[in-house]
Amino acid sequence: PTMGHESSVDDLARDLEEALRLDDKQADRAGDSAASGSDAESTHTAPSSPDSTPEPEGSPDTDSAAAGAPVTLTVHRPLLPAGVTSLLAGANSALDAIAERIQSGMAKRIIVMAGAGISTAAGIPDFRSPGSGLYANLQKYTLPYPEAIFTLDYFRKKPKPFYVLAKELYPGQFAPTASHFFVKLLAQRGLLLRHYTQNIDCLERAAGVESSLIVEAHGSFHQAHCIGSGCGKEFPQDWIRERIFSDQTPRCDRCSSLVKPDITFFGEGLPARFFDMIGGDFAACDMLTVMGTSLQVQPFASLVGDVGPSVPRLLINRERVGEGAGHPRGFDFDGRRGAGAVHRDALVLGDCDDACRLLADKLGWAEELAGLVAGAQAQTSL
Ligand code: OAD
Ligand code: ZN
Repeated sequence: PTMGHESSVDDLARDLEEALRLDDKQADRAGDSAASGSDAESTHTAPSSPDSTPEPEGSPDTDSAAAGAPVTLTVHRPLLPAGVTSLLAGANSALDAIAERIQSGMAKRIIVMAGAGISTAAGIPDFRSPGSGLYANLQKYTLPYPEAIFTLDYFRKKPKPFYVLAKELYPGQFAPTASHFFVKLLAQRGLLLRHYTQNIDCLERAAGVESSLIVEAHGSFHQAHCIGSGCGKEFPQDWIRERIFSDQTPRCDRCSSLVKPDITFFGEGLPARFFDMIGGDFAACDMLTVMGTSLQVQPFASLVGDVGPSVPRLLINRERVGEGAGHPRGFDFDGRRGAGAVHRDALVLGDCDDACRLLADKLGWAEELAGLVAGAQAQTSL
């Protein structure tokens, strides 16, 4: 299977253009539906502005660790249809239920699935956020459509835009975020079964997560290969790095075709490690956490449905994703699948660093997390 969306690349290009044009309207609509939603949400704004939402269960889900910075997290509290009971009920909030499961040892084979949103706080843009996302800021490359920059056919014809972007985003220039270090803390405690990342920034490695616990689903800059048909010669990372940084187009010394870092492009297959690991991992998983991804790219997005039917799943993201028609076994935050299905999906809307700090706080790991983040920041500012 190759990486792609449900639709063809051409459809995608059209959709993207449409999406870019509609950004404002969509933002408005998103605002409306959030405001008129019938579900009870508990929005917590802390600590600079007082919480205006009544706290039904009395547990302030605020982040005391982020001193001074305004933190807004919304822990979704669905009004479940009659007959639907939640696996996560009984605690103050879904996040408390998640923390309790970890603390009680019920969750000890945790899978984290991550996307570009866990690295935006490090200064790396995500792809699809209106305005700030990479795909909205590629004008200077005059691409036929934004995703062309990661599309093999286009790259063969015009490799320059990708190499320019690769130089800008090259690993080593950014520090891991609280979200990366939260994953590291899970690993340190033996609770992390695997971290599946779509990111190519290597920040989970930089945070100290062992490479055996990481699956880089869309590849990485670690190696590079010639894309000439029948060649495929491997090149070391230093070799390609040097060329990318000196604005040379890296070419194979055997066949003179382009040499590309092993980042998965649209139309390419995902790394073998991805397919080797998913079967065993998702069958064994006892808690899933999805952070900072729009869940728009397959096959990664459908992994959400690969955990057992009563495994709790937590989404931490700025926007609700992974539900509805395009996601057959995706999230069901509101119990719409009815009483026959186990309700086990939790949603925390907001910045993943804030949510990770809050969760760490509930687990008694807040200080350790803050220390790791401060250490990384001190190191990059040296
Ligand atoms: P997207 O840009 O599609 O989605 C990022 C998601 O993270 C969005 O839903 C944002 O709202 C959210 N987000 C951004 N910053 C956040 C933050 N600080 N806290 C919480 N949420 C935040 O990025 P991906 O889903 O990772 O492929 O994109 C998937 C793939 O599409 C990428 O791997 C890339 C791209 O084409 C390749 O480059 C090979
Ligand atoms: Zn070659």
